[in-house]
Amino acid sequence: MKSQDIRNAFIDFFKEKDHRFVRSSPVVPIDDQTLLFTNAGMNQFKPIFLGQKDADHPRAVNSQKCIRVSGKHNDLEEVGVDTFHHTFFEMLGNWSFGDYYKAEAIQWAWELFTEVWGLDKNRLWATVYHEDDEAFDLWPKVTDIDSSRVLKCGKKDNFWEMGETGPCGPCSEIHYFIGDDPGKQNAEGVNVSDAYWELWNLVFIQNNRLPDGHLEQLPAKHVDTGAGFERIVSIMQNTYNNYTTDLFMPIIKKTEELTGGSYGDNLIPFQVIADHIRMLSFSIADGGLPGNEGRGYVLRRILRRAARFGRMLDQHQPFIYSLVESLGDVMGDIFPEVVEKRSHIEKVIKAEETSFNDTLDRGLIHFDKLLKTVSGKIISGKAAFRLYDTYGFPLDLTQLMARENGLRVDEEGFNAEMTEQKKRAKAAGKFTTESKDLLWKIVSEGDDSEFMGYETLSTKSEIRRYAVQDSQIMVILDQTPFYAESGGQIGDTGMIKGDGIDLTVNDVKKNNDSFIHFCTGSIKEKAGGKVECQVDGEQRENIRKNHTATHLMHQALKLVLGDHVHQAGSLVHSDYLRFDLTHFEKLNPGQIREIETIINREVLVNNDLNVSVKSFDDAKKEGAVAMFGEKYGNHVRVVTVADFSKELCGGTHVDRTGDIGFFKIMEESSLAAGVRRIVAVTGPKAVEYVQTQAAALEAVQSQLNCGTDMVVERVDQLLTQKKELEKELKQRRKTGAAFNVKALVDSGEKVGDYSVVVQMTDAGSLDELKDLGDTLLGGLKSGVGVLGADGDKPMAVVVVSQNLVKAGIKAGALAKGIGAEMGGGGGGKPHLATAGGKDSEGLKSAMDKSFEIVEKAITGL
Ligand code: ALA
Repeated sequence: MKSQDIRNAFIDFFKEKDHRFVRSSPVVPIDDQTLLFTNAGMNQFKPIFLGQKDADHPRAVNSQKCIRVSGKHNDLEEVGVDTFHHTFFEMLGNWSFGDYYKAEAIQWAWELFTEVWGLDKNRLWATVYHEDDEAFDLWPKVTDIDSSRVLKCGKKDNFWEMGETGPCGPCSEIHYFIGDDPGKQNAEGVNVSDAYWELWNLVFIQNNRLPDGHLEQLPAKHVDTGAGFERIVSIMQNTYNNYTTDLFMPIIKKTEELTGGSYGDNLIPFQVIADHIRMLSFSIADGGLPGNEGRGYVLRRILRRAARFGRMLDQHQPFIYSLVESLGDVMGDIFPEVVEKRSHIEKVIKAEETSFNDTLDRGLIHFDKLLKTVSGKIISGKAAFRLYDTYGFPLDLTQLMARENGLRVDEEGFNAEMTEQKKRAKAAGKFTTESKDLLWKIVSEGDDSEFMGYETLSTKSEIRRYAVQDSQIMVILDQTPFYAESGGQIGDTGMIKGDGIDLTVNDVKKNNDSFIHFCTGSIKEKAGGKVECQVDGEQRENIRKNHTATHLMHQALKLVLGDHVHQAGSLVHSDYLRFDLTHFEKLNPGQIREIETIINREVLVNNDLNVSVKSFDDAKKEGAVAMFGEKYGNHVRVVTVADFSKELCGGTHVDRTGDIGFFKIMEESSLAAGVRRIVAVTGPKAVEYVQTQAAALEAVQSQLNCGTDMVVERVDQLLTQKKELEKELKQRRKTGAAFNVKALVDSGEKVGDYSVVVQMTDAGSLDELKDLGDTLLGGLKSGVGVLGADGDKPMAVVVVSQNLVKAGIKAGALAKGIGAEMGGGGGGKPHLATAGGKDSEGLKSAMDKSFEIVEKAITGL
C-alpha cells in the first residue's frame, strides 16, 4: 500500500466515524509561546482542552506535521543512526473533545490496526498507565487482544504531557514487535528493546500541568491520539526501516544521484540527510529561518549536522538544497507548501550551506588535531566551546563526533563557557508562558472577547476579569471594539471608562482566544456594571490604510519581482508598515519605483474592498493567499481588492483603496539570507515624508547653487575633489608624522660645535623633500642637514644654518659633491640646495658619504 493510501485510509476511517478533518497547523507555532515547534497533533487543540474555546465539532482527525528536536521530546541523537526516529514526522491523530472516551478510542484503534490494515495481532502489545484500571480492563473487553499482551507501565511511558505545562493525562500505547521470530517476543521487551516500536499513543486528557508543577483537573475529559505515520508505513510496506519506504526513498535516490554514493554502502549519512531535509524544508515553508537564537538556532544546528554528514559523502559544495524538489514530489499533495515555497526554501538552505561550508573543513581539521591531544575520554568544555565559537559547530555536532570516536564532551564545562560569553544565553528564556501567573479577579461570568471592531469603534461592554501587576492593569471584556495584535497588525489603543474605572488602553494582545487589554489608570476594587469602550479612531484609521497597503504591496512585489516572493513577516503599525519578503537580491531603484507606481495606481482607481467569510477550501480554490505560519480555522475571512489582490486576513482595512491616499517606500534592506525588508508609509505620513525629502533636496540645491537636474553631478564633483584632497593630506601626514625635527636635530652628530643631520625620509617628490628641508632648517640653529628620499627619483636636499653660510659653507657646493656621489649633480641656494641621481644604489652610497663630505667642509673652515 502506498503511503498516500495509508494516510487516506486513516483519515477516511475516522471520517466515517463522524470525525471532521482538520488541516495540519504550521510546524512553527506562532501563537503558543510555550513551544519551540509543534510537537504533537493536539497542540492546535490546546485551548479546547483547557476549556478556553469551544470545539466546532466534537470529533476531529488529521495528519499533523511535527518536529521534535529539543525540549521534552528530544530524539536528535538517534535520528538517522537508527531507522525509526525523526526530527520531522507526521502524526496521524483522532480527537474527542468532551465526547467519546477510553472505550471507543481503544476499540477503534484496534479495529483500524487489525481489521482495516491487517496488522498481526500476535505482534501487537498494549500498555496502560499502572493506575488506570479502567483502561486495563477495557482492552480485553472491547477488543479481541490476548489479555497477556496488555501491560501496566509507569509514569515515564504512560502519562503523556505536551511540555513543561499544559494538558496531559494517562495514556495507552500500542507497540509492534518487528523482530524476525515472533516466538522471541516477551513482555519485558516492550518500552525497552528497539525490536518493539511504539506505533500509536492514545492519551486520555483529563489534567492540566500548571507552571508550579501542580496538576489541575480539566472541566471535561478528552481523547488525543497520535500514531507514527512513518513507522506504520514501514510496517505496512514490510520494510521495517522508515527510510526504505516510499516516503524517503525518492530523497535518498536523489542524494545518491547528487553525490555518486551508494545508500547500501553508507546508511547513516543518507538517512540523516533525508531526515533533516524534511525538518528544514517544512520549518522554512512555515516561516522559520536559520539564526542564532531560539527556533532559528535549532534550524541552524540541524542544517550543520546534515552538512557534516554530507562531508562523509565527499560533498564540499552545497547540495542539500537540491533535495527540496524530491521532497515536494513525495509530500506536495498533502502539504502543498513545500512545492509552493520551493524556491525560497532552496535559497535559504543553499545560503546557509554555503556559509557553513567555509568553516566546516577547517573545523574538521581542528577536531582531528584535538583528538590527538585529548587525554582520557573527555573533550573539555573549553575545546568544545572553541569549536562552537570559532568553527560554528553546535554542541550536539561535537558530541556526535566525540561519540563516534568513543569520547564524550564535558557539557557542563561547555555551558560554563557559554554562560561566561553570555552572548546567546537565555535565548530560550523568551519561550515561557506570559500572563500565566497573574491573579485574575473575576467580575462577571460568561463568554469573553467577542470582537465588534470590524463594525464599530465603541461598545458598552462588561468586564469579565482583570488583573493588576505593578502599574499595569489587564482587562478582559465580554465584547470589545479593540483589535488585538495579530496577523502583523498592532493592537488598538483607546479608553475604557465606567463607574470607578478610568483606563487608558495602551495595547491589546490575544492569549489563546481572550483579548487582554493592557491599560494604565485606575480601577476600583469592586469594579462592575457596564463600561464605555472607545478605540482611538485616528490611530485605527492609519492602521487600516497601512494594512490594505500591505496587501497591495504583497501583490505588487509578486508582479515586479516574481512569484517566489512570499510574505515572511509583517508589521502593520499606525505610523508605517513593514514587510519582510523572500527575495535574494537588493531591490534596485527602478524596481522600487515600479512597485510604488503599481500601488499608487490601485489607490487612484479607488476600488471597493470586499470582505467575506467562507470555508478555507473555497478560499484557497479562489486563489486567496495564505500567510506563512498562520493557523486558519475552517472558516476564513477573505479580503479582496477587485481583481488585484485576495488574501486570507483577520485585520482591519479601508473601505476603498482611495482611502490610502498615497503610498511611498522609505527603505529597503537585508534582514537575513533570502529575506529583504521594506518599510513604507501611507496617507498623511507619506505626504509628510515626501515633503521632508523635498525640503532636504531644496536645501542642498540652494547650497550648491544649481537646479535639481544638476545636483547629482555637482555632488559627484565635490566628492571626487574631496577624495583627491584626502589622499594628498594622508600622504603629507604620513611623511610629516615621521619627521620630528627636534628629535632629528638631537640625534644628529656633532662636528665641533655644529650639528650634522643625515637622514632618509619618505618624501615622494622633490617638492615634498624641499618642504621637509625647510622644516629642518627652521629647527637647526647651527649646523648642516642632509635629507635623502627615494621617491619618484633618488634625491637629496642639503640645508645650512645662517651662521655657517656666513662662515662660508654653501649648501649648493655640498649638494654638488653629494650629487656627484649619486652619479648625478646638484646645486641651489647657499642655505638650501638639492641633488639628484640615477638609482637607489647611488643614493645609498651618497647618504653614507654625506657626513664625511659635510665634516670635511666644516673642518676645512
Ligand atoms: N499527544 C500524544 C503524543 O504526542 C498523542 O504522543
